[in-house]
Amino acid sequence: MVEQIVARKEDIKRIKTYIEGFDEALQGGVPQRHITLVTGSAGTMKSSLCLNILYNEALHGVTGLYLSLEQSHASLINHMINMGYDFSKVNLVIIKDLSKIQASIASIKNNKAGSLVLVDVACIRKEIKEVKIDENRSWLNVLKNIVMKIKAETPCELFILDSLKALYVLSKFQNPRIELFYIFEFLRDMDLTTFLISEIPPNAEKYGEYDEDFLADGIIHLRLTPFRRNIVREISVVKMRTTECNNDVFSLEFKNGKFKALYGGQNPLL
Ligand SMILES: Nc1ncnc2c1ncn2[C@@H]1O[C@H](COP(=O)(O)OP(=O)(O)OP(=O)(O)O)[C@@H](O)[C@H]1O
Ligand SMILES: [Mg+2]
Repeated sequence: MVEQIVARKEDIKRIKTYIEGFDEALQGGVPQRHITLVTGSAGTMKSSLCLNILYNEALHGVTGLYLSLEQSHASLINHMINMGYDFSKVNLVIIKDLSKIQASIASIKNNKAGSLVLVDVACIRKEIKEVKIDENRSWLNVLKNIVMKIKAETPCELFILDSLKALYVLSKFQNPRIELFYIFEFLRDMDLTTFLISEIPPNAEKYGEYDEDFLADGIIHLRLTPFRRNIVREISVVKMRTTECNNDVFSLEFKNGKFKALYGGQNPLL
């Protein structure tokens, strides 16, 4: 899909992050069709932040796809229930068996509510034993086909990949820089607003393993920062193309089912 040029800045459509105080730092949100890295070390709430976007968008009737390469659908759903989400308000669709994907697609199409579609790749891997994991790219193709099929047959607008690191392990890239370039090309052609979860060690000097930080349109960085004997959750925008962003570091809290970004000095609430 050829990128459209807008006439006025107000015409740039944005997807909210649903983090109070943070959307304001992004002129209202992430531009539609951007590929954004959500990067941080273990437990920084990368998955939660992305699930929060999908859940809230689903409440507004928008369908989004969450491809989980490691964490099971049961673990993700329990996590969301603990976050206070009400699954009677959105259409939760779980894809864990490719032979039943058509029924899942029908459920997305037939439901007036927005769908939160969770693809459990660990379950699918157990199902398709004949796909040789050591055969380079074959898993990448299976995953691309799932995304293409859902995009082609449903009104899916958002895509989350959890995580890039798990994709690298699964796909066994021989030339990661080139392969990664083509993955980004594929995602741009998909015409979806994409969030790629990137796991990095605490204090890492890069936001990804290869050239993700240069290829991505945006980077949202999550951190756990020691402050005296407390640990403060923090969030900042490292970059966001087409956006006049505030790059300040905010403390991040999740309370009563909502994320909030606050300026320093507040007590950490988590
Ligand atoms: N209401 C809540 N329900 C569940 N977890 C919460 C809640 N509030 C805070 N958390 C914290 O969220 C953290 C996990 O979030 P999440 O799984 O999104 O992180 P992550 O960065 O994706 O982690 P990983 O690196 O393991 O993938 C836990 O450490 C948990 O304590
Ligand atoms: Mg996670």
